[in-house]
Amino acid sequence: MSEPAAKIELDERYTLACTLAREAGQRAMAMWRNRDALKVEHKGLQDVVSAADREVETIVRAAVKAAFPADAFLGEETAGEAGEGIAQERVVWVVDPIDGTSCFLNGMHAWCVSIGVLIDGEPAIGAVYDPNSDELFHAARGRGAWVNSSPMRTSDASSVRDGVLGVGFSHRVKTDAFVPFLERLLTQGGMFVRNGSGALMIAYVAAGRLIGYYEPHINSWDCLAGLVLVREAGGTVNDFLARRGLLNGNPVIVAGQGLYPKLVGLIDGTCCTQ
Ligand code: IPD
Ligand code: CA
Ligand code: CA
Repeated sequence: MSEPAAKIELDERYTLACTLAREAGQRAMAMWRNRDALKVEHKGLQDVVSAADREVETIVRAAVKAAFPADAFLGEETAGEAGEGIAQERVVWVVDPIDGTSCFLNGMHAWCVSIGVLIDGEPAIGAVYDPNSDELFHAARGRGAWVNSSPMRTSDASSVRDGVLGVGFSHRVKTDAFVPFLERLLTQGGMFVRNGSGALMIAYVAAGRLIGYYEPHINSWDCLAGLVLVREAGGTVNDFLARRGLLNGNPVIVAGQGLYPKLVGLIDGTCCTQ
């Protein structure tokens, strides 16, 4: 008989994720205040990166490697270095050093640091820090979800008329895969907001501020932390990691339990066929 797999320590990693999200966020904030000095490069259509993104990722990566040398690391700015085998690692830190880079570089406030940890294939820890409001959204499997020291619960909305939905869109996706959804949402009396940071909007779903969030394609570093936040806050999340979602991304759908099935119907169009 083979040996049972060694237990992975969750709480030490949870503490580190929270500490790092705050520290990295403060470092990013210092650079945001001096953002005109940052060199900016274009990665694609409406997709920019700056020295701040790279520096913050380097800081987080070094701290993770110092504390847990055997853990794997998948960060947006170094994702190209992650091999195919990363999805099989027992612990993977999934990090967006600055989510909402366009807002960050243009002097807006909707950006954050997002740190998620996958343990044995399951999203297990999430820490999303917004330095502009000094809010740390954090959760770990079985530990509940919190904004700073206050517990979070998802909204009890059961209709899109009951609140505001977060949406995201990037030019990785064709517009006709998204615009019909928006039309259905508005026709059904719903309303949407896109603030430029998917990670922050998913944290707002966990906090019950938004009734749900949908984006037709998002990367794992944008949402892995958020998936833990929403689930621990009592909400429902889609099977984001299916079909190589960790490496290639997927649609993301998260909402309070009452709204989730209706949101899925709005996305696939089955809500409005009769
Ligand atoms: C983007 C933001 C945006 C979402 C995109 C992401 P970045 O990340 O989260 O809200 O719609 O899918 O790529 O480029 O700001 O880190
Ligand atoms: Ca991002
Ligand atoms: Ca980013």
